[in-house]
Amino acid sequence: MALERTLSIIKPDAVAKDVIGQIYSRFENAGLKIIAARMAHLSREQAEQFYSVHKERPFFKALVDFMVSGPIMIQVLEGDNAIAKNRDLMGATDPQKADKGTIRADFADNIDANAVHGSDGPDTARAEIGFFFPGINLHSR
Ligand code: TYD
Repeated sequence: MALERTLSIIKPDAVAKDVIGQIYSRFENAGLKIIAARMAHLSREQAEQFYSVHKERPFFKALVDFMVSGPIMIQVLEGDNAIAKNRDLMGATDPQKADKGTIRADFADNIDANAVHGSDGPDTARAEIGFFFPGINLHSR
């Protein structure tokens, strides 16, 4: 199995619900180590840049509005198959369709406010980690 790193965000809805600790427990119980973390309140420019791949989509403005609506918790997770493992823990984008016991099924209200973000592949993971932790030498544990 490949040791990977992935970028995870606990979005404004989940931060407001005070479930950071519960979500961190799920990462740790699944063997994903938190090797970097910081809280931030994104500017509109940062949110637009982070989600620029979606800029032509009809939900883009609502997504940006939501991502700047409150603080977010950003972390780098490391572990075997971390990218897919985190996506499995998150569940489907639409919480109505997410499997029971996933983060989105348990903590998200709807597809607009769906609790967490996770990188969807090795290239996006590298780019997203660089976006939020630029020039920082991250240490494996
Ligand atoms: P996407 O990258 O497709 O999903 P995921 O977060 O599961 O990788 O979409 C990014 C975010 O855009 C998603 O978390 C919520 C928002 N979004 C909507 O609001 N409506 C939609 O129809 C889709 C596909 C996404």
